[in-house]
Amino acid sequence: MKIFIDTANIDKIREVNTWGILDGVTTNPSLVARENTDFKTLVSEICKIVDGPISAEVMSTQAADMVAEARKLAKIHKNVVIKVPMTEEGLKATKTLASEGIPVNMTLIFSAAQAILACKAGARYISPFVGRFDDIGEEGMNLIAEIMDILDAYEFDAEVIVASVRHPIHVTQAARMGAHIATIPYEVLKKMLHHPLTDIGIKRFQDDWAKMSKE
Ligand code: G3P
Repeated sequence: MKIFIDTANIDKIREVNTWGILDGVTTNPSLVARENTDFKTLVSEICKIVDGPISAEVMSTQAADMVAEARKLAKIHKNVVIKVPMTEEGLKATKTLASEGIPVNMTLIFSAAQAILACKAGARYISPFVGRFDDIGEEGMNLIAEIMDILDAYEFDAEVIVASVRHPIHVTQAARMGAHIATIPYEVLKKMLHHPLTDIGIKRFQDDWAKMSKE
């Protein structure tokens, strides 16, 4: 399973990249807005840190404008993946970009039916959002199970990026379902790393070792 970080914060990307587990980065307009910096410069900076797919989202709403915006973003670095929203115009743009060899991550996927359309249009990645379902009292991971069943039954090339991840259980469930990628916020990655019994275990080993050294 590939692990992406879901942030536009350079310091967090740099830190997690040192762990040796990071395969890519996803950003979205809300995450970029928090950084209050030039979008293209930010994407270029991320590409210098992480050697893997880096998703950058288009803001246009019409297919022709999305394509023009995407072509410019794709020129920033070979690893840039264009995030395109799941709309009729987004499907048209995805088809065009895929035919030009520009990889697309179709985002804001909330149903298996939308996932099928994204795959048919040639999306390289599809991003179903799980946490936003949980937020409204529905089981977000059911969507991943449904999509994985469909991908298993056909020869779609798209990889599933489990997005809107809220906690480590989303990640382990995604892995058990065979999802290709989870894009994980920094805070959730930290929660995945730590376990109180690990901390207690380390302290006990260090205390015992220190006692022996004194003796
Ligand atoms: O980047 C897309 C997705 O991961 C956003 O998550 O937390 O805004 O629902 P969230």
